[in-house]
Amino acid sequence: MPEGQTIIEQLEQIQQSALRALEMVQDEAALQEWRVAHLGRHSSVMQIFSHLSEVPKEERPRIGQRANQVKQALEAALEARAKQLKRLALERSLTSERLDVTLPGRQPVRGRLHPTTQTLRKIYSIFADMGFQIYRSRDVETDEYNFELLNIPAYHPARDMWDTFHTTRPGVILRTHTSPGQIHAMREFAPEPVRVILPGMCYRYEQISARSEIQFNQVEVLAVGRKITFSDMKGTLNDFARRMFGAQARTRLRPSYFPFTEPSAEMDVECFVCGGKGCQICKGSGWLEIMGCGMVHPIVLQNGGYDPRQYSGFAAGMGPERITLLLHRIEDIRYFWANDVRFLTQF
Ligand code: PHE
Repeated sequence: MPEGQTIIEQLEQIQQSALRALEMVQDEAALQEWRVAHLGRHSSVMQIFSHLSEVPKEERPRIGQRANQVKQALEAALEARAKQLKRLALERSLTSERLDVTLPGRQPVRGRLHPTTQTLRKIYSIFADMGFQIYRSRDVETDEYNFELLNIPAYHPARDMWDTFHTTRPGVILRTHTSPGQIHAMREFAPEPVRVILPGMCYRYEQISARSEIQFNQVEVLAVGRKITFSDMKGTLNDFARRMFGAQARTRLRPSYFPFTEPSAEMDVECFVCGGKGCQICKGSGWLEIMGCGMVHPIVLQNGGYDPRQYSGFAAGMGPERITLLLHRIEDIRYFWANDVRFLTQF
């Protein structure tokens, strides 16, 4: 160990070079390196502490005290530099990442219900108010339920009304309408009265165009009981139309044909675009066709498990996409499946 005086000089140098090195430090990583180099276990000051025992006894207090001062000076310098660096970093980020707090915020995009879903829910709530329950029925049907039990035997010309998707299993098809649900519901409830709506997806093997899709919703209405009349049907569907299209909505029934209803009718609502004067939407007629309906055919009642001499009922079927189309004057049904947000966010 060198002389006491030399050690004091050495300490002086250690302090000066350490402080000079500290001035060069520009970031947190370099600061940590500096700490290890100048205050760590192998640093020069610490070495002096560990070799203090080799210094002559009378020199020890003076050297020890001086070494302590150097160590404390370096620690203080380190702390000051750390603070300074932090402030510099903050200043830098304040100027480079400048933020304009007066800019208007960006509105987050909100999800919303598909227009068809909105119409469906409205239909549900109107019929719920009238005491109808929702009855879910399957999408994959048998030929028997979709046709036979609805009084549409094989080779019946009325089958041409529904172009069918067949599966690889003979006799298993995708339902072409929600009417097979009538049989399911009747068979479950008979001989109790039934008052249900049957919503669901239907499938038809058709050319996709602005007016027709291969997949669409229907809502079937079915009421069966002991004294249900044609005027019950008329009243119920009229009430539905008023709640759906507005209290002023006028309706009319036109004779029609369905194999599973007798008599059958088509319900029109007065065109709410032109008020009945005739326009493009109603194709000049002043009326919009909104659903097929009729009194449940005796054969269908029987297939459902009711004695047609004691029971009667009415049924109707409507297309929520078509209703939505009319309500919003949408000119192309393909928009419903295109999933284009520019379309969807309008509702
Ligand atoms: N199922 C018929 C269709 O798809 C609609 C309908 C339902 C008609 C109930 C009368 C009674 O066209």
